[in-house]
Amino acid sequence: MGIRSFIQRKVKQRMAPEKPIQASKTKPVDTRPIPSAKDAQGFTAVLRVSDLMLGKGRTIAIEGAPIAVFHINDGFFAIDDACTHEDAPLGDGEVRGATVVCPYHDWIFDIKTGACETEPERPIGCFSTKVFDDFVWVGPRTSESTVDRGGDHADGLTTSEHAS
Ligand code: FES
Repeated sequence: MGIRSFIQRKVKQRMAPEKPIQASKTKPVDTRPIPSAKDAQGFTAVLRVSDLMLGKGRTIAIEGAPIAVFHINDGFFAIDDACTHEDAPLGDGEVRGATVVCPYHDWIFDIKTGACETEPERPIGCFSTKVFDDFVWVGPRTSESTVDRGGDHADGLTTSEHAS
């Protein structure tokens, strides 16, 4: 490299506009307290949006009632936490797309509609949800779970056969 090209490069570097300072790529952690009062529409804040990763579920309680909240590609959804087979906590289930697989015997429920893919006559109840102010809110019930319980397991045995 000749002296002329060295000087030209140095001059170019000095003339170049300063690089803008990069904003931090990580969002600050949201530590705000979760509002404790229901809003005017009867929704209860249950989580910060940042508390529940995409593809995960969690069991929360509203006035003592366990509710499973899920974060899927289409947003946040809430269903009754008790599986309509034998009451397993669906908030602990594996999320597959828009469905959750029960952690006990693998019945599959549609997180958005409550439909049970394994036993269609055993849907799970659903609740309205919304995101506001970076909180996930659960509102009034939109459907009921069936009250029936028991039935076939994936291994072919029924609830009573397992109990004996
Ligand atoms: S308790 Fe859910 S499938 Fe058995």
